[in-house]
Amino acid sequence: MKKILSRVLALALVVCLCVGCSSTVEETPTTTPVEESTETATTTDSTENQDKTAVESDSTTATEDTTSEVTPAPETTPEPEATPEPEDVANEALEVSIKDVFAQHGVKAGTCMNAFWINGGATEELILNQFNSITMENNMKPDYIFDQAKCQETGEVVISLNPDAVKMLDWAKKNGVALRGHTFVWYSQTPAWLFNENFDSKSPKASREVMLERMEGMIKGMFEALEEGGYLELFYAYDVVNEAVNDDGTLRSMWNNWYETVGEDYIWWAFYYANKYAPDYIDLYYNDYNEQFKTKYIVDLVKTLVDDEGNYLIDGIGCQAHLYTMDGLTEYFKHIDTIAALGLKVELTELDVELGAWQKDIPANEENYNVQGRYYYDLIGGLLERVDAGTLNLDAITFWGFNDALSWRKEKKPCLYYADQTPKPAFYGAAQVKELAGYEEE
Ligand code: GLA
Repeated sequence: MKKILSRVLALALVVCLCVGCSSTVEETPTTTPVEESTETATTTDSTENQDKTAVESDSTTATEDTTSEVTPAPETTPEPEATPEPEDVANEALEVSIKDVFAQHGVKAGTCMNAFWINGGATEELILNQFNSITMENNMKPDYIFDQAKCQETGEVVISLNPDAVKMLDWAKKNGVALRGHTFVWYSQTPAWLFNENFDSKSPKASREVMLERMEGMIKGMFEALEEGGYLELFYAYDVVNEAVNDDGTLRSMWNNWYETVGEDYIWWAFYYANKYAPDYIDLYYNDYNEQFKTKYIVDLVKTLVDDEGNYLIDGIGCQAHLYTMDGLTEYFKHIDTIAALGLKVELTELDVELGAWQKDIPANEENYNVQGRYYYDLIGGLLERVDAGTLNLDAITFWGFNDALSWRKEKKPCLYYADQTPKPAFYGAAQVKELAGYEEE
């Protein structure tokens, strides 16, 4: 214990000294206790092995709580394979539009997005009918945004929007669809070479000073590239930092190159730079998963993200909402009410509701699809009620996909539509059509 304490104090001292030297900002953010990094990522997509902390959940009208474990870190999104256009797609759900329902409450309806879904067919039509916001599932993640050769040539970070990203940006512009940017500073899906001298993975790790310059270069470069392309105004939100807090409240240090090279204040710096370069109309978000189990830690972190005058550098908290039908909604709403009380904006950024629980599969049958429908209905209804009551400043709800066949967690059928793209009770739940959301079967 003494040993850990002295390490924490020593690290805090180093961090204070470094910040004192390199910036005009006087205070470093206070953070949760630090665990020592024992391993570094060798690949770009390692997933930390999480401790499973027991938690209590409450029951809800829609679901029964049988789970007592925290969900592990989401795996990295696999690059989705180009799924063929479903044949005989029924477009019956197009009469009801989630985006129109949400618009009555001033909330945007989003989906994650991949370039191959822009296909001139029913998938594209469905997206345009149901959603007015997109988040690229992969193509704006750090793995996809750098030109390594030019970084090496110039010695500076060079951003290059990849063709799929450009395809989606052009499509969004043409169709009046808004965007969330996802994401800048993340332990995962970020090239390992970014953290080495000369942008070369065979070289030693770059210094804190160099990595802060690169962080600034990445953020500045992306906003510039978007502006040059005429796309910047499409964006209303950006995830500046993704998944920095462990389930036990410590900062994620393992396999986290940002933590390792910059130190525990890397989160503060990311928001500092984002604030410096983002236009005012783009809200800056901290985004995390298992949010309902680590509310206090997220709140503590957010409170440190302030400038010298105590003004927030952050505009909103992104709740990924990778949920299960056996997760407690009462607990989820407690989380929402607590973060809403900070006075910042809130978004559900990656909503999907899997059948069962993290370690419990339940059959994909009518009964369970109805449970899922009721879950979506109650979750979204509860959020919209809070918005209407003025207690929640919710800007958008983004679904992490819409069709079970296209989902990163397709085996647990978490989406709004079946694989053949016909609507599930989940769709009607999301669209607040109670009589089709699984309630009629009770
Ligand atoms: C996290 C990330 C997302 C995605 C999911 C898995 O939630 O924020 O971008 O990678 O994991 O799809």
